[in-house]
Amino acid sequence: MPQTVIAGNWKMNTTLAEAVALAQGVRKGLTGAGGAHLVLCPPFISLAAVQDAVRGSAIQTGAQNMHFEKSGAFTGEVSAAMLQGLCQYVILGHSERRQLFGETDTLINKKVQAAFQNDLKPILCVGETLEQREAGRAAALVAEQVRQGLNGVSNITGLVVAYEPVWAIGTGKAATPEIAAEIMDGAIGKTLQSMFGTASGQVPLLYGGSVNPGNAAGFAAQKCIHGALVGGASLRADQVLDIARLMAQAKGAG
Ligand code: 13P
Repeated sequence: MPQTVIAGNWKMNTTLAEAVALAQGVRKGLTGAGGAHLVLCPPFISLAAVQDAVRGSAIQTGAQNMHFEKSGAFTGEVSAAMLQGLCQYVILGHSERRQLFGETDTLINKKVQAAFQNDLKPILCVGETLEQREAGRAAALVAEQVRQGLNGVSNITGLVVAYEPVWAIGTGKAATPEIAAEIMDGAIGKTLQSMFGTASGQVPLLYGGSVNPGNAAGFAAQKCIHGALVGGASLRADQVLDIARLMAQAKGAG
């Protein structure tokens, strides 16, 4: 059974001081959420300070993006080598990156490969828009995102995959656990299985999109859902801790 992972994607929120305070708050309240693996993903500029704030605890850190090249003339970008030692995880292919910054599956695949080569654990995000869902294309599209995102990868140790339907992100309208499970068990699970065989059984599959303490346990009750990628609610220490505790309990790990 894969680890129960609760990752908080803070997006473009928190100043340096706010990020440290939030990380300290999560750390302070950690008792009881011990069965879940917590990953905080602040903006780049707060990564070092957040890492300091959680040092010595079970909390880990992640970046929200990165460039696939090692170094060079890429103004404003951050490489995997630069993230080494600052975080263990990196979110890649988030729908906001795909939609607002034009990231394609080919580009995301390069980033995934660079993450593995630099000992970072990629949290590969996939998910369909409402239009694609209504056109009956959700499963095929998500399967293709997984296939292309992991193209050419042979060792998936450390991989995490997050299913984030675009229509559920930041809308307060989460998918139902059944809708999420249908895609996660089917399109994602089966694609991983066909590409990587038994190794796919160790990949934590996270649901993301309007997760909160009220709906977290319902998602975790699904066998194929191993945790959550949390946006808005991760900006509140009490909420992300509640989500972690509830999901760990539902998974029998808390
Ligand atoms: P919300 O939890 O705010 O819907 O965001 C989800 C998300 O995009 C996490 O990466």
